[in-house]
Amino acid sequence: MKELINVIDNALDKYLQIEYPEDIFKAMKYTLMLPGKRLRPVMCIETARILGCDIEKVMPAACAIEMLHVQSLIHDDLPCMDNDDFRRGKPSNHKVFGEANAVLAGDALLTYAPQLIIEKSTDLTSEQIVKILHEYTKFAGAYGLIAGQVVDIESEGGKLVKSAKETLDFIHLNKTAVLFRLAIKIGAIAADADKYTIEEFDNFATKFGLAFQIYDDIMDEISSFEELGKTVGKDKASDKLTYVSLYGLKTAKNKFNCLIQECCDIIDKYDSKIFNDILSRLAARINS
Ligand code: IPE
Ligand code: IPE
Ligand code: MG
Ligand code: MG
Ligand code: MG
Repeated sequence: MKELINVIDNALDKYLQIEYPEDIFKAMKYTLMLPGKRLRPVMCIETARILGCDIEKVMPAACAIEMLHVQSLIHDDLPCMDNDDFRRGKPSNHKVFGEANAVLAGDALLTYAPQLIIEKSTDLTSEQIVKILHEYTKFAGAYGLIAGQVVDIESEGGKLVKSAKETLDFIHLNKTAVLFRLAIKIGAIAADADKYTIEEFDNFATKFGLAFQIYDDIMDEISSFEELGKTVGKDKASDKLTYVSLYGLKTAKNKFNCLIQECCDIIDKYDSKIFNDILSRLAARINS
């Protein structure tokens, strides 16, 4: 996995060159090149690989997903959103480049990502590219990530339109699971997987995404700045609706473990070391 992360880091560096006006490219590249876990591009590429596709074929799209993810992080940290001063162990984008450039860097990553898919995916067919862009535009916008972020912010302080359980699932499925679904679906589309296989992987990605946000909610409560590279205890301070605030730590951990087990059951037959490593590492940390 370390090797694959290196390949992804090199590709990200290559795909995003500093040009004029340098301020915007520097702001885009700053958060992008800080050490993230790169889970989404890794899972995109691994899905493609186990379904029989060359990893080079899907590399531009995998990097585009990381750019979309980084856009969501830059905007998520803004004072008008979660107001976080640290990300990936360093000051947040707006702390370094100012709020205006952080907003614009997010916008620029959001729009450069599909441009990259179109310009660099020379080994994919036009039909595959259109399918990928359709998924990208659906999941990145008000039918996905943005919907999740809006309800996340709206629900601070308990202002709910639907039941707390329904609201929480909506938030987690939209703000987090959609990006894993997008990453994995792109891998499956690049591999020309059949409808049944795409659905099976989508089911895996949905469960993984939900488990991952529960993991993040738990870590916000039990971990440290040194481990996470971001301020901890923020969810409680902002009165966020999370698995921990609604169900308590123990039930959140149980729910996380059930989802991880379901993910293992789905992916088991593919015998993927990378997927197994990701699942077992997250589980080991929560159950340590
Ligand atoms: C953080 O995602 C945002 C959530 C969905 C919880 P990651 O924990 O994958 O962040 P990086 O990419 O490793 O920084
Ligand atoms: C993660 O939500 C979702 C997105 C960033 C889109 P959080 O607000 O919990 O993520 P962190 O904890 O700031 O990484
Ligand atoms: Mg947030
Ligand atoms: Mg946040
Ligand atoms: Mg969080």
